[in-house]
Amino acid sequence: MLRPGPPQAIGVPPWALAGAQPLRSDRIVLEPLRVEHAEEMAPLLDDSTLHTFIGGKPANVQELRSRYARQVIGSPPNGSQRWLNWIVRRRDDGQAVGFVQSTVSDQDGELIAAVAWVVVASQQGNGYAREAARLMADWLRQQRVDRVVAYINPGHHASNTVARWIGLTPTDTKVDDEVRWQG
Ligand SMILES: CC(C)(COP(=O)(O)OP(=O)(O)OC[C@H]1O[C@@H](n2cnc3c(N)ncnc32)[C@H](O)[C@@H]1OP(=O)(O)O)[C@@H](O)C(=O)NCCC(=O)NCCS
Repeated sequence: MLRPGPPQAIGVPPWALAGAQPLRSDRIVLEPLRVEHAEEMAPLLDDSTLHTFIGGKPANVQELRSRYARQVIGSPPNGSQRWLNWIVRRRDDGQAVGFVQSTVSDQDGELIAAVAWVVVASQQGNGYAREAARLMADWLRQQRVDRVVAYINPGHHASNTVARWIGLTPTDTKVDDEVRWQG
């Protein structure tokens, strides 16, 4: 399929996209994930309320280290996806407040970035998720990604607001009771 953009934008495989870059906005930086972040993040993420809408349960340091070690590889062996993960950190005092992530894959010739966000309970309600998600989505759109999507529980007001904030709108598609948002 012919897509707008320079010739080199056609048929870019997900693995060929740039890895996660450091990004910065007014109040936060997005720091590309490293395995060593596990020690800092495990106590902050040790909170079952963070899993109300996304399932699963908190991971201990070892589990988080293993997860991060898999994630920082950046791509599965067959190169069908690009995994991008960032820690969200406040600029004023360096405090980590959460993380954002994106999985980019080629679907019928389109590069689709599925995005997600988590902000620790003590830092919620300050607009950090909106700021971090916007920063990530804007960067993805500069990286030849054709479409940003998110899968969100319809009852999750905060996440719905974040999705709208980054220019996504809900679709009729549901996967595991989550609505697909795209934009
Ligand atoms: C979703 C989440 C990241 C939002 O983080 P946040 O930093 O509090 O979000 P923001 O401060 O940017 O606020 C976004 C919107 O959510 C609202 N909001 C924030 N916390 C809220 C709460 N506890 N209850 C209801 N609404 C809330 C904000 O008021 C804002 O809406 P508004 O613009 O209408 O005022 C956070 O609640 C979270 O990590 N939840 C658990 C993990 C999760 O489910 N992630 C979603 C995966 S896609």
